[in-house]
Amino acid sequence: MNKKKVLLAAPLLLALGTSAFAQSGEVNIICSAQADWCNLMQTTFGKTRGIKVNMTLKGSGEALAQLVAERANPKTDLWFGGTGDPHLLAAEQNLTLEYKSSALTQLHPWAQKQAAQAGFKTVGVYSGPLGFGYNTELLAKKKLPVPKVWADLLKPEYKGEIQVSDPRASGTAYTMIATLVQLMGEDKAFTYLSALHQNVSTYPRSGVGPIKAVARGEAAVSISFVHDAPGEKAQGFPVDAITPADGTGAEIGSMSIVKGSRNLDNAKAFYEWALTPGAQQFGAAAKQFQLPSNKNTPVDPRVPDFKKIKLIDYDYAQYGQSAIRKQLILNWERKVFNQPK
Ligand code: F6P
Repeated sequence: MNKKKVLLAAPLLLALGTSAFAQSGEVNIICSAQADWCNLMQTTFGKTRGIKVNMTLKGSGEALAQLVAERANPKTDLWFGGTGDPHLLAAEQNLTLEYKSSALTQLHPWAQKQAAQAGFKTVGVYSGPLGFGYNTELLAKKKLPVPKVWADLLKPEYKGEIQVSDPRASGTAYTMIATLVQLMGEDKAFTYLSALHQNVSTYPRSGVGPIKAVARGEAAVSISFVHDAPGEKAQGFPVDAITPADGTGAEIGSMSIVKGSRNLDNAKAFYEWALTPGAQQFGAAAKQFQLPSNKNTPVDPRVPDFKKIKLIDYDYAQYGQSAIRKQLILNWERKVFNQPK
């Protein structure tokens, strides 16, 4: 670079931070958060670091299935977002790489615990509670009450009015099953789920599918992460969310580096960046209102207030085991999904 070019480049480098252009090449990321957030991270990281980000969007269960399929020849370098249970499962199956970020101590205890219990093969990037989404106009029009507790969803007046995603593809739905099992015990949870089946109109593959359907008036009620409601509301849809008064679970949205990554330095650079308050603010900027894992990330007022929610002590280690996940999903297929209505 000649002197003139260096002088021209200096302000740009200052604006982008000292590490701008320190790296090059590419990084292949599976993103299990919503598209707007994934795209914002792709563009920003790509531009500021000079690294091409190839981003694929996949639900948590589908992302895990891809990592399993690629085991012998990984094409993915990093998996960002999605519920924590499948990230723990990927760690258990040795699909992801042990990596300790220098930012670990800046993270909330739940995010650090998620890392520690996976032997540092994953880390928490956000958290959010499970609850019910509802269309305020549709409920009023059909004279239906806002459901307050899990049992309310079984009432006959909600027949055909409820959507929840498919746990084979969606981490949201798996979180629901694991939450109900922890709240009620396994037998009662499956009795509950088969009764709920009578009121469910459809099981979309994506966890945000049901709340989007509710927002657009295609369903009255969804079982969803409540942090997904304010983003729909901000677009002008008549949607709100509530957490069940009798208790609920929360996800620890996670991030993992793939074992055998071919762009490891770039994957580590993205990982470190994604844990900074600067990068974590892109969640709220993209109208995603999970609680960020870095204690220094500003928290948008639309992020659910955990102190006001009756949360169960969700056993992430237990429900992040492959044998348990497999058995719960098989049971759901057999005792719920395959049952006639
Ligand atoms: O992106 C929104 C979100 O609710 C995340 O908080 C969560 O990790 C993800 O969706 C789960 O998606 P899915 O249920 O499709 O795996």
